Amino acid sequence: MYKIIKKQLLTSNIYLMEVEAPRVAKSCKPGQFVIVRTDDEGERIPLTICDNDAFKGTITIVFQTVGAGTKIMAELKEGEGFKDFVGPLGQPSELCNESVEDLKKKKILFVAGGVGTAPVYPQVKWLHSIGVDADVIVGSKTKDLLILEDEMKAVAGNLYITTDDGSYGRSGMVTKVIEDLVNEGNKYDVCIAIGPMIMMKFVCLLTKKLEIPTVVSLNPIMVDGTGMCGACRVSVGGKIKFACVDGPEFDGHEVNFDEAMRRQTLYKTAEGRALLKYEEGDTHHGGCGNCN
Ligand code: NAD
Ligand code: FES
Repeated sequence: MYKIIKKQLLTSNIYLMEVEAPRVAKSCKPGQFVIVRTDDEGERIPLTICDNDAFKGTITIVFQTVGAGTKIMAELKEGEGFKDFVGPLGQPSELCNESVEDLKKKKILFVAGGVGTAPVYPQVKWLHSIGVDADVIVGSKTKDLLILEDEMKAVAGNLYITTDDGSYGRSGMVTKVIEDLVNEGNKYDVCIAIGPMIMMKFVCLLTKKLEIPTVVSLNPIMVDGTGMCGACRVSVGGKIKFACVDGPEFDGHEVNFDEAMRRQTLYKTAEGRALLKYEEGDTHHGGCGNCN
């Protein structure tokens, strides 16, 4: 069992859990994810790692209750645990491949949307630990839904909070803040955008225009996270990729977001999966049964 040593309700339906998983905590890198299962019958849920403490042997995950699997997870109490906690999975962030000297020369902008703030945090924290302070935009629908503000403030160079309804920080969506920052004279060498698919699509449309290379994390289109179900199939630069195996991070300017979002919707029903199988051939469409 992978014991939950801390559970915290961050907003009405977003939970943080710190879980004992020493081997994952020792070897994970920013950008990677884990797959958790509450019991033998439980759904496999892929979640990007929010934080790790190699000394304590713990991993922090943040999740929103959206379906049965995450609702069952949210019922677990401190002292109880997960049956499975598999990871670290996926490729680490490309930033991990660059030298500290090269990273220090770059002006890096992170754009975090809603729950996507959780996977942004470990990357910003890691950069801060090696002396690179990145700018971070965090977008939230309202003040009440904002998460990890204090944690992010402690590791970001500049933190720009914006709410859709103007109830806190700046007013408007993250794309407005990107435009404002660039108009104010800021120049960025790279942007890392993590949040809902629609946000990443519009951030990429804007940063393409602004000529800022942009990386996105396609965790939202994953289902079983094992390369078996085919849910996370996506075209990147015209080539077929699977987010859980080849990603989750990709060059955002090369991702076909419209196709990925259509697949995401179709994948939810048996009829939709049958249509995908008809359109795309007989591979990776629920053969393993993991995603039902
Ligand atoms: P949300 O709908 O509250 O959006 C968060 C912010 O994204 C908004 O405040 C806004 O600033 C921006 N945004 C939304 N639509 C936009 C648009 N059309 N143009 C420009 N900016 C826009 O987000 P939420 O409800 O917290 O998000 C839940 C989603 O996040 C889920 O779909 C989940 O799968 C996804 N998620 C993604 C990752 C990842 O790795 N990419 C990780 C965790 C969660
Ligand atoms: Fe990638 Fe199933 S989530 S193949």
